[in-house]
Order: sequence, then C-alpha cells, then structure tokens
Amino acid sequence: MAATPSVESAARGAKNPSALQFLKSGPKKLLIGGKWVPAKSGKTFETLNPANEEVLALVAEGDKADVDEAVRNARKAFEEGKWSTMGPHQRTRFLLKIADLIDQHADELAELETLDNGKSISESRNMDIPGAAETFRYYAGWATKIYGETNPSDPGMFSYTLREPIGVCGQIIPWNFPLMMASWKIAPALACGNVVILKPAEQTPLTALRLGELILEAGLPESVVQIITGFGPGAGSSIAEHPDIDKVAFTGSTEVGKLILKASAGNLKHVSLELGGKSPNIIFPDADVQAATFGSMLGIFMNQGQVCCAGSRVFVQESMYDQFTDSLSKMAQGLTVGNPLDPNTRMGPLVSKEQHDRVLGYLKAGKEEGANAKVGGAAGNQERGYFVQPTVFTGVKNSMKIAREEIFGPVASAIPFKDENDAVFQGNDTTYGLAAAVWTRDISRAHKVARALKAGTVWINTYGMVDPVASFGGYKQSGFGRELGKHSLELYTQIKQVYTKL
Ligand code: NAI
Ligand code: MG
Repeated sequence: MAATPSVESAARGAKNPSALQFLKSGPKKLLIGGKWVPAKSGKTFETLNPANEEVLALVAEGDKADVDEAVRNARKAFEEGKWSTMGPHQRTRFLLKIADLIDQHADELAELETLDNGKSISESRNMDIPGAAETFRYYAGWATKIYGETNPSDPGMFSYTLREPIGVCGQIIPWNFPLMMASWKIAPALACGNVVILKPAEQTPLTALRLGELILEAGLPESVVQIITGFGPGAGSSIAEHPDIDKVAFTGSTEVGKLILKASAGNLKHVSLELGGKSPNIIFPDADVQAATFGSMLGIFMNQGQVCCAGSRVFVQESMYDQFTDSLSKMAQGLTVGNPLDPNTRMGPLVSKEQHDRVLGYLKAGKEEGANAKVGGAAGNQERGYFVQPTVFTGVKNSMKIAREEIFGPVASAIPFKDENDAVFQGNDTTYGLAAAVWTRDISRAHKVARALKAGTVWINTYGMVDPVASFGGYKQSGFGRELGKHSLELYTQIKQVYTKL
C-alpha cells in the first residue's frame, strides 16, 4: 500500500478550494451501482502530477471482478428501462443538467485536469472543460430527435423502423483529453438510451471521477453511468472481452485498438475505434503564410502534441521550405514552456514518464536518421517534470521513422514537396488517415486536395478545429466509426424493422 500523498505539495499552485478538497478526500473509488466503492481486490494505484512527479491521489484499481459486477448492474438497469424507456424530453433535461453542472464546476475541473494531465490551464479552461459541457448540451438536443422511418408498402401492410439503444456500452478512453473524451463517449450513448461503463486512462482518472459525482448529483437512475478506474490489461481488457457488454467504444493507440477488436469477437460486440494518426499539414506557396505558420504551430504544439489529429507531418513546397521552417521554428522557440498552472504557460509537461521516454526516443531516432532539429530536440531544462522542448525537424524524408510513426509529442517533421500531386502522394503515404490540412488561397486547389486526401477530417486554412456538431473519426488504421455530430447516433443505436399486416 502506497503512502498517503501530500496534496499540498503535489498540487502546489492550485487555488480552487473544491479541487483541493476533492484531492484531499481520500483514495478515489469506483462508481458501481450508484455508490463509490473500493476495488474488490483492495488495490490502488497512484496518479501523478506530471509537472512535479508527485502523487496527487490514490485511485482504486478495478479489474475483472469489478467489471463483472458493474455489468450485472448495467444489464439490470438497461432491462428495467428506467433510462432506456424514459421519455426523450426527460433524458434531455438530465443531459442539460450534467452540462450545467460541468459549467458550474468549470474552474475546479480545469485545475484538476491540468494537475492530472499537465496541459496548460489556459487550454483546460478554454477548450477541454467548455468542450465537455457543450458536448453534453449538444447531445441533450438529440434525445428528442432520434427518428425511425415509415416504409412505402402495399395497402395490406404497415411497416416502420424503430431506432433503439444498443444496451450496455463499455467505453475506454485515453489520457490526452480526459474529460472531453469522457463527454464524447457518455453523452451520445445516454442520449440514445444506453447505459455505460466508462474506463478512464490510468494516467488521468480524476476529472472522470469528479464527473461521476456530478452525474450522481444530476440524479440519473442508478447504474446508468458506472466508472471503473484501472489499467488496460485488467479493467480495460475485461470490458473488451465481456460476454454481456453489447458495444465497446475505444479511443487510444492503434496497437490496443487491434486487441479490442479481437477481444470483441467473443460475443460480436459492436465496435467503434478512434486510433492514432500521422496527419499531413500541407502548405502551398499561395497560402496566407503568416496564418499557415501560426496554424501549423498550434497543430503540432497544442496539448504538447499529444493529440491524435496533430499536424505532425508539415509538408512545405520546396521553394518556400527554408523560409517557412525558419518562421515556424522561431514561433516554436517563443512558446512559454513551464508550470502548466500559470496562465501564461503555452506548453506544460508530457503526461507521464513513459510518454517522455517514448518521445525522447523519437528525438534520438530522428537525429540518427539524419534529420536536423532546427529548434528543440531535447528534454526540457526544468528540474522536475516530464518536459520536452518544442521541436522542429527539417531535412525529413517521408520514409523516416519520425515521419511514419505517431510520436505523440511536440515534434514537427517538416518535409518538402514539389507540386500538388507530390503533396497528395506523400500526404497519403501513411498507414494512418485521421486528419489532414491544406493551406492555399486557390479555392479549386483547396477542394481538389481535400478530396484527394485519405483522411476522416480535412481542414482548409485552419488546423485542429473540432466541434460537437461535426463528425470525427479515421480512415485506414486510424479506426472506424464516426463520433460527434449526428454520426454518433449510428454508433449507439440499432434499427428494428416492424411489419404489420393490416
Ligand atoms: P493505450 O492505447 O494503451 O491506452 C488508451 C486506453 O486504453 C487507456 O484507458 C488504457 O488503459 C486502455 N488499454 C490499454 N491496453 C488495453 C487493453 N489491452 N485492453 C483494453 N484497454 C486497454 O495508449 P498509451 O499506452 O497510453 O499510449 C501509447 C501511444 O498510443 C501514444 O504514444 C500515442 O501514440 C497513442 N495514443 C493515441 C491516442 C489517440 O487519441 N488516438 C490517445 C492515447 C494514446
Ligand atoms: Mg498502453
């Protein structure tokens, strides 16, 4: 059993009294059957502040036995129908209530997110927390707009479809946008009448647990939302394998996505996967170069580059390559890296030692393959914490490891191209297909290139825009299924055809 953490020290700099109160209120538990309970094994694990490597809280380590119990509760809740057959207007009100509670606790949630994940407080405050509230609010509206169809039929027949919930949904999420990912998963599932079991990432469980408290406060029926913290093998794998879970939704690495798909075969679960990326960000000489430079900077350095749709391959037309990479490097050098609780900080630490080691490994590999770290290329010079300097590699070839593998850190690989065809060819020359961007003032070229790129999202003259109203998901090994927008309703409903002989 680990020692009780010193919250004062691990969370130094945090100001929100409720956030501190939450951290001090003892080991975090699992939300099972409407109650907070320890793991059956009694085991806990530590969640750290990656800015100072100190322990913020002990968290229950759920595993198969806890998942089994949650699934029994979830099945009972679903079949009893308190949620699945609740009137849609009432479901809307519950989801709006959750959105309002997130807003009311925004400051607290933002501090918890920054403490647990390391992302800058300005990003937590301006993107993650409001984004989570908006996602609940958006899907609150959908609960009353899920229609079936009346089919054309012979006079002697009346036939129609019902769009029904799938049932018990297991949802496994990553650590890069902890509360936002929880909202992308929970909100549409609930709008459609499902019950959910959520497994937050072991690196960042805190805001999902606080959300669990807010969901209880909103008064949803028991076991409609259950939360099981723990590790991938154990809590996560038990969800993926469980014979009585009807659907699994996963966001994370392509490697684990493949394991989830295999595990789901046992009972042929519905599966949706949102996986990695190596997104091409293509800059043509006729672009607004200043806007393209700023957008490319955000595209790779936001959230320390720990973004599945990060613009990690920056393709620049060869006539402007030197000039553009100079300006991008200057901008990268100007980013304030440091204490993520400081509102002036642009880049905090990476989430964990594991990710820090991984990213430093790629910096080494890039240099060994002959790329030039024009800026950065090393760990941060902070005494503690998992910091990495914003890095721009030039002289990169699309065949290099740093251009092929997802680094998931603040590392841009700048690659020259000749012309439009070459840009599209190289951009598509990847196993991934999550996102892409094109910067040009030529409207025909913009749309031609957008069509030619094999990616689930294409941005024109912007980077990284994500909105709950619009779909999000991947081509190729970036996964399948589309989250957000009306597309999420496809993931969380199934169609029943009804024939009536008149
Ligand atoms: P991961 O894919 O191992 O973890 C994501 C989630 O899956 C976590 O909740 C984890 O506990 C769970 N998980 C892990 N193994 C599992 C298993 N066998 N069965 C069921 N659930 C399991 O990602 P990790 O190890 O944190 O990061 C490794 C790399 O993955 C990153 O460097 C990055 O390249 C990529 N990644 C991509 C993300 C995305 O948004 N597409 C998010 C996080 C990581
Ligand atoms: Mg892993």
